[in-house]
Amino acid sequence: MKVLVLGGAGYIGSHTVLALREKGFEPVVLDDLSRGHRAAVVGATLIQADFTTVDLAAVLKESGCGAVMHFAALSQVGESIQRPDLYYRNNVAGGLSLLDAMVASGVHYLIFSSSAAVYGEPSRVPIKEEHPTVPVNPYGATKLAFEGAMQWYARAFGLKYVSLRYFNAAGANPDGLIGEDHQPETHLIPLVLKAVLGSQPVAVFGNDYPTYDGTCVRDYIHVCDLAEAHLLALQALLAGAPSSVFNLGTGRGYSVLQVLETARRVTGHDLCIQFAPRRPGDPAELVAASRMAADKLGWRPRYPELEAIVTNAWQWHRAHPEGYPAETGR
Ligand code: UFG
Repeated sequence: MKVLVLGGAGYIGSHTVLALREKGFEPVVLDDLSRGHRAAVVGATLIQADFTTVDLAAVLKESGCGAVMHFAALSQVGESIQRPDLYYRNNVAGGLSLLDAMVASGVHYLIFSSSAAVYGEPSRVPIKEEHPTVPVNPYGATKLAFEGAMQWYARAFGLKYVSLRYFNAAGANPDGLIGEDHQPETHLIPLVLKAVLGSQPVAVFGNDYPTYDGTCVRDYIHVCDLAEAHLLALQALLAGAPSSVFNLGTGRGYSVLQVLETARRVTGHDLCIQFAPRRPGDPAELVAASRMAADKLGWRPRYPELEAIVTNAWQWHRAHPEGYPAETGR
């Protein structure tokens, strides 16, 4: 089966493309390469286009895709606060044009990249799917808005969807084929590894949180485990499972200082730490309850240990200190 992968040249999309290939699906990537990388698309056709303006119904018909995976969202929390217009236009209005195109072309199966950001500041951890959704930034608000649209399109038009709420995606393909390269980079693990490579200090945003060492706690989940969850979700829908929403995390939280300690161990390099003020909008602790994905999809993270996640990320960053080559299309 052919699967249209919107945003398949990005970090999580490109890892899912590899997983689709491994399981015998035929991924067709559509990405405008504004944030993705041509070199990240391995073993799939690439259509270079903006999903918010291209005729997606025509793409679906001409490519013969029977399902869609949608990764083509803007995903920087800070940017979303500065430019909510971009986030609503891309993540919500663009998303609606996708849903309309799917209805028009009779393609019913959709796997969507959602986020822990839909929960906002949690009142209870670990966070279950039924936890109240009160996003605290436009990024989370637009992910939640699109989840709502999917729900109503499902009821009215027979769409079948799975929304996957990722916690902190990290790591890289263990074979070193592809990895994480955001411009600008805002995520902790790649920033720490870049700091090691450039012998620079690492800023720790806040050490006065109500956590055991005062720094924020996050649930880091290997990008290949996220990719695997997309495959299982698609297979479940194809087998007749109902539309649903799943958290994806390991259920274990690590503090920023624990991540730094792991990076020290993995890289063999010492790190210069600079404590800095809290970053606005950072919840103290985000840890997933992922029991639902285990029970309903049979999903079990293959790389639950932080050490494996950081090791794979380090392999990629060491081999690609400048990220993906610029001449490949970024
Ligand atoms: N951090 C630092 N220093 C840095 C970068 C990050 O101390 O240089 C800290 C952050 O304050 C946070 C933790 O490291 O406590 C993780 O930060 P990331 O930026 O790597 O990830 P976030 O937890 O902010 O983001 C994740 C997802 C988002 C999602 C968000 C929900 O990547 O998609 O959780 O809050 F929106």
